[in-house]
Amino acid sequence: MNRWAWIEVSTSAIENNVRELAALSAPSPVWAVVKANGYGHGAVASARAALDGGAQGLCVALVQEGVELRAAGIEAPILVLSEQPAETVAIAIANRLTSTVYSAQGVAAFLAAGGKAHPVHMKVDTGMRRVGVAPSDAVALAALIVDSPAVALAGVFTHLAVSEEIDNDFTRVQLARLDTVLAALATAGYHPPVVHAANSAAAILHPSARRDIVRTGIAIYGLAPSPSIAHLCTSLRPALSLRARVSFVKQVAAGEGISYGLRHVFQRDTTVATLPLGYADGVPRRYGAVGGEVLLGGMRRPVVGVVTMDQMMVDCGDQSVSVGDHAVLIGRQGDGEITVAEWAQRLGLIEYEVVCGLTPRLERRST
Ligand SMILES: Cc1ncc(COP(=O)(O)O)c(C=O)c1O
Repeated sequence: MNRWAWIEVSTSAIENNVRELAALSAPSPVWAVVKANGYGHGAVASARAALDGGAQGLCVALVQEGVELRAAGIEAPILVLSEQPAETVAIAIANRLTSTVYSAQGVAAFLAAGGKAHPVHMKVDTGMRRVGVAPSDAVALAALIVDSPAVALAGVFTHLAVSEEIDNDFTRVQLARLDTVLAALATAGYHPPVVHAANSAAAILHPSARRDIVRTGIAIYGLAPSPSIAHLCTSLRPALSLRARVSFVKQVAAGEGISYGLRHVFQRDTTVATLPLGYADGVPRRYGAVGGEVLLGGMRRPVVGVVTMDQMMVDCGDQSVSVGDHAVLIGRQGDGEITVAEWAQRLGLIEYEVVCGLTPRLERRST
């Protein structure tokens, strides 16, 4: 142990979640999205756990994220979800990363790199308006891909903008646009072997989005894509907990303030514990001000004063607390639990932001 603050990641929870998602979306297999350091859970451990749970492939955002997985000995198919700088193309080829293309320049980069039949998935923008070839240009781009010796059309996909909104008809609109593109491709003689559209919310909510694979991220970590569908995610188990040990304890007197700005003033004499983590680890500076709590001695205790870069303080009242005691910022202790959802709700964030915001400075330990 190199410090008294760390993240624990339950690999059995990720395995369980992948199995649950695979059962739900069967016969479409799960490709686990492990970009952004496995949504803060650690990319390699998350990828291994997902594969152990039955994931058939992995998705990343960056070539370097794929390289990290290959360097760890992971041999499963890896899809890079968007076009990457031309300079990275040779690295993608060397590491057998399936690439995404949606522009002529994207295809040209593979030609320039001297690739041969490198597998690419063509991404179609059916309405997210982020990246992707316009539906009207999809057949022409597919022709360019098929005619280029550098690349091979291994898949076609799109990304959904409102899949977590149960009653929003735009998901149906996007899937219809995808189907129109697929029909036009078929008419032109192009039959991509794999078609995909579903993120976690779509895999859970929209059977018609599941297609040949589902690309699930947040749900494999046991988190709900949005509070509105949390009731459909009860079989998922949160994989991450954030833990620390008390690094310092002292008494403070009524009337004293604490931390930068002395913004929190104590109403009574109390015991204050310091935890050795802060906003440089991903605990927002305002966490105390928004009512944030930690579990300590099996009880919820309020964070007091602003969270500093490396340390934060907790009001323990009359509770007996000692240096070295275990605190839980996210996860369970005794009968208590603080969830990522609670953080998100207090902080006005989505759950994705909370876990992705936990920085590499925190060691990830697999349990
Ligand atoms: C293209 C693409 N597919 C799939 C996902 C996974 O989404 P989720 O984490 O909601 O399952 C993402 C995540 O942002 C994405 O960008």
